[in-house]
Amino acid sequence: MMGFGFSIWVLLLLNLACCSRGFTPVDQFYVNCGSSSDAVVGNITFVADKSATKYLSTPQEILADSNLNSITRADDSPLFRTARIFNGPSKYTFPIRQGGRHWIRLHFYPFSYQNYDMKSASFSVFSQKTTLLSDFTPKDAIVREYSVNVEKGDLVITFSPSSNSIAYVNAIEVASVPDDLIADAAQLYSSSGQFTGLAAQSLQTVARLNMGGPFVSLVNDTLGRNWESDSSYLKQPNLATSKSNIPAVQYPNGGATVDTAPPTVYGTCTKMNSDSDPRSNFNVTWDIPVDPGFQYWVRMHFCDIVSVSPTDSVFDVYIDTYVVYRDLELSTKLYGKLATAFFADFVTPVLDRPNVSVSIGPSPRSPYPDAFLNGLEVMKIRNSKDSLAGTSVLPSFPKSKKKLGIIVGVSVGVPVALILVGILFFMHRRRKQQQLKLSKTWVPIWVNGGASHTMGSKYSTGTTVSVGSNQSYRIPFVAVQDATNNFDESWVIGVGGFGKVYKGELHDGTKVAVKRGNPRSQQGLAEFRTEIEMLSQFRHRHLVSLIGYCDEKNEMILVYEYMENGTVKSHLYGSDLPSLGWKERLEICIGAAKGLHYLHTGDAKPVIHRDVKSANILLDENLMAKVADFGLSKTGPDIDQTHVSTAVKGSFGYLDPEYFRRQQLTEKSDVYSFGVVLFEVLCARPVIDPSLPREKVNLAEWVMKCQKKGQLDQIIDANLVGKIKPDSLRKFGETAEKCLADYGVDRPSMGDVLWNLEYALQLQEAVIQNDPEENSTNAIGQLSPQVGEFNHVETTTSVAQFETSSVDDLSGVSMSRVFSQLVKSEGR
Ligand SMILES: *[C@@H]1O[C@H](CO)[C@@H](O)[C@H](O)[C@H]1NC(C)=O
Ligand SMILES: *[C@@H]1O[C@H](CO)[C@@H](O)[C@H](O)[C@H]1NC(C)=O
Ligand SMILES: *[C@@H]1O[C@H](CO)[C@@H](O)[C@H](O)[C@H]1NC(C)=O
Ligand SMILES: *[C@@H]1O[C@H](CO)[C@@H](O)[C@H](O)[C@H]1NC(C)=O
Repeated sequence: MMGFGFSIWVLLLLNLACCSRGFTPVDQFYVNCGSSSDAVVGNITFVADKSATKYLSTPQEILADSNLNSITRADDSPLFRTARIFNGPSKYTFPIRQGGRHWIRLHFYPFSYQNYDMKSASFSVFSQKTTLLSDFTPKDAIVREYSVNVEKGDLVITFSPSSNSIAYVNAIEVASVPDDLIADAAQLYSSSGQFTGLAAQSLQTVARLNMGGPFVSLVNDTLGRNWESDSSYLKQPNLATSKSNIPAVQYPNGGATVDTAPPTVYGTCTKMNSDSDPRSNFNVTWDIPVDPGFQYWVRMHFCDIVSVSPTDSVFDVYIDTYVVYRDLELSTKLYGKLATAFFADFVTPVLDRPNVSVSIGPSPRSPYPDAFLNGLEVMKIRNSKDSLAGTSVLPSFPKSKKKLGIIVGVSVGVPVALILVGILFFMHRRRKQQQLKLSKTWVPIWVNGGASHTMGSKYSTGTTVSVGSNQSYRIPFVAVQDATNNFDESWVIGVGGFGKVYKGELHDGTKVAVKRGNPRSQQGLAEFRTEIEMLSQFRHRHLVSLIGYCDEKNEMILVYEYMENGTVKSHLYGSDLPSLGWKERLEICIGAAKGLHYLHTGDAKPVIHRDVKSANILLDENLMAKVADFGLSKTGPDIDQTHVSTAVKGSFGYLDPEYFRRQQLTEKSDVYSFGVVLFEVLCARPVIDPSLPREKVNLAEWVMKCQKKGQLDQIIDANLVGKIKPDSLRKFGETAEKCLADYGVDRPSMGDVLWNLEYALQLQEAVIQNDPEENSTNAIGQLSPQVGEFNHVETTTSVAQFETSSVDDLSGVSMSRVFSQLVKSEGR
């Protein structure tokens, strides 16, 4: 027995040596749960349980051994022999070095161990805010595979027993997947348009089939996947036959690679059994059982190993009753090459039946009736309740000190992080840097507009088109019309310098904000492009995300995630919205500061937003702040060199006087504008209010006077009077004041601002007793202690004197156009 097993592994290893893997995962964790020894499967070593206890938090150590020495079934892996049993909520926390897509594979095999009845165990499993399994009872050996996107530090897998039950797992795999394996967009075949946002989705593998070939194990797959034979899924096996020519398989330049599927998959196919009858007219159909109520991602793999000449095969392809390809002629997509790998992705509507059916059938255009398919993958897409299974509820864990770092790393933003603020303060700097690094390592696939990584519609529609950067963001005009009820005026939620903003809903139910540009002007077009470029490069929880854009028919349309609670400005004044509390306001400022800090310290080149104002900071349904409107942003070398711009841009009342004077742009201009926002948040009044007495018209000017006289507390929002702790107010005031320093060099960096705001929040929240450092400003900041006398430049006067009919227009709208007029008129 041992000898036999040994020689199999040697064979497998030899096999491996001859075909090199295309991809090396940065993160890889393979755990042989419950076992005292390592187990090798393929060339993957699953480590003994004791090597993985550092990742595990569980109420009790229960290591179960089936004591099965012999493997009873051909496909039984050594991993099934032992298991970890959990008699309460338990979790594995794996530190992730590189954000992005990861496999999670969970191996289950129920056996009996002591008093634990694994066969009737029922439990739920969660990861990445997704319910992976809900009240699940494995009946036999089973491996569940998921593909999740890890944006932040740790990947946590939580096991939660149903009431009066236990949970268990026999083996766990977590490994990086190339981010471009699954394109962000795929064709929705039941309606026009695309399903976008796949890059961030959690998916579960439902079926992965090798048409016309045998089971392909992880040994023959560069990404450790298994491919099942398709024969048991064929509706009418007698109508089908198979063909194999693995050595012939080629990969195109751009498109499918060996990571998409190995030659062993592309080199075999199931085809119409039509060779003996030129009048054959039938479909070959596969039925894949699925759970109704979900959408599914379907990838078809084609490779023409059937035809003799490139124009031999023309056929139709269906999913359910929809035609997804009429007259598919692979050779036209592959420059006339035979035996070349090609794939196409589709997304189903929410299914109301328990099958996804895929059919292929002859086209009347074909010289001879034939049709073939080489591979098929079906993955379940997480539903709107963040579940891939039922509706189980993530258990809560008692907070233990030991795991503190981990909890915080994973769930910044949830209440637990707030509770810990006090303790965190001292760990602060390091954590901040870590977060920054992590959020930057997650590079969305469509970022790399260059040739090698361009995914675009080439992949999702299956047509070979020349793909520019950002292609997969493109949304058809009809889909935008659909989403906005044909630009229904009653759906308008805002009007800005750029055009109107509509509320909308995409086909898949995603709520969106649709910004439709005024007819093309040079100015607008430049801003449109900048915005797409910026937002497709930068992804951060405190930056509004771009869902797509449309430039058909001279349109300039941008589609963003919908921000339920509108602008920060609308919560401060000029509306009936309830007044925000001090803590809420601080958290909003902290969120916005994080977004700006991320931009300033961005990947390759820092980015200057150039239009920071309360109308450009938006709030989601949880009042989380996100920075928006990147139309004026600038990257790059400008920042290092002395940048002289011909047109000063930005919004009145927020403009950095130094930028205005010297036309030299630095990140510190954003810091100035953000300082104005801070005072706006504190005082809840417009930044320019011509209806007020002269000395109060300009908020920045006015608050600086009051701050100098130590009278800041007299001009704060009436709703906040008596609700801000004096220390918190002092810290906040000092921070904002420093942002408004006359010279950029005297202003703090966005990182320092962020740090000080978090401290202001801590001073508001925490009861710190007898902290000797609390009253010492020096202990907190390396901010330059003396802010130069604030000599407001003459230009501010002209701003204040500028005649305006509507105050709101002045401070709420991007004023670049008006501003250039002003500059001109002054010059006259
Ligand atoms: C398996 O082998 C390949 C090449 O021999 C290597 O690149 C890969 O990292 C190995 N995988 C594991 C999990 O060791
Ligand atoms: C796996 O790959 C090896 C080496 O290319 C090959 O000899 C073997 O037949 C493959 N196995 C299958 C099931 O295709
Ligand atoms: C193949 O299936 C499609 C979709 O169900 C159907 O419309 C078509 O008529 C079928 N073709 C044949 C030849 O049965
Ligand atoms: C689903 O597929 C199975 C297996 O082919 C088949 O027996 C069943 O009729 C199908 N159900 C539906 C609703 O199509």
